[in-house]
Amino acid sequence: MKKCLMLFFGALLVIASTVRADEIQKEVILPEPDYEGGRPLMQALRDRHSYREFGVRRIDEQNLADILWAANGVNRPDGKRTIPTARDSRALDVYVLKQGGAYRYNPDRHILELVNPATLRYSAAKQEFVQQADVVLVYVSNYENHETGGMHAGSAYQNVGLYCASAGINNVVLGMIDRDMLRKELHLNDNDYILAAQALGWPKKK
Ligand SMILES: Cc1cc2nc3c(=O)[nH]c(=O)nc-3n(C[C@H](O)[C@H](O)[C@H](O)COP(=O)(O)O)c2cc1C
Repeated sequence: MKKCLMLFFGALLVIASTVRADEIQKEVILPEPDYEGGRPLMQALRDRHSYREFGVRRIDEQNLADILWAANGVNRPDGKRTIPTARDSRALDVYVLKQGGAYRYNPDRHILELVNPATLRYSAAKQEFVQQADVVLVYVSNYENHETGGMHAGSAYQNVGLYCASAGINNVVLGMIDRDMLRKELHLNDNDYILAAQALGWPKKK
């Protein structure tokens, strides 16, 4: 049974990874965050909750840029971030798994850097609904102290959760993920530790 499931997901991976080479972008320059966008914070707090259902609409580059900036973007001229970090270590990496590749968000340049041209969001999934998510974020501590890493990831996924509530995008934090597989596929360093993931997608059309 386990073998069948592995073969099934393997086949899905191969099919999903068939993106034409000319469609794979090594760097994606993200649009500037829309600082005027979204609904008031109190409404976002009221509406924040986990959703495990996603529709087919794609998250566009503007929304993705806003989401990543909310997660770990630079919000001051000295390079400090939208999230606080212990001793200003900035020791959090956010990876983006989406159709057409896995990317690392580079906050200083506000761009995505390709780490794997395959569509990996299936390997993040231990729960069926993740297959329907358009984008999966993976939060990685790149510092020895993974305890503070967990706090940094918590700040980031809460920022994203609030952004999503404000924009009407569904999201859920994921602790149940295949860390060993993701570690290999994201080509992480020995010091890197996968803390959590977050599945995102527009709701199904009513
Ligand atoms: C660290 C963490 C890990 C989580 N892991 C999962 C998960 O693997 N799968 C899942 O469906 N929900 C997961 N959740 C979502 C929680 O189940 C959810 O936040 C909780 O039930 C409260 O619901 P709410 O977010 O709608 O308030 C996780 C939440 C956190 C903070």
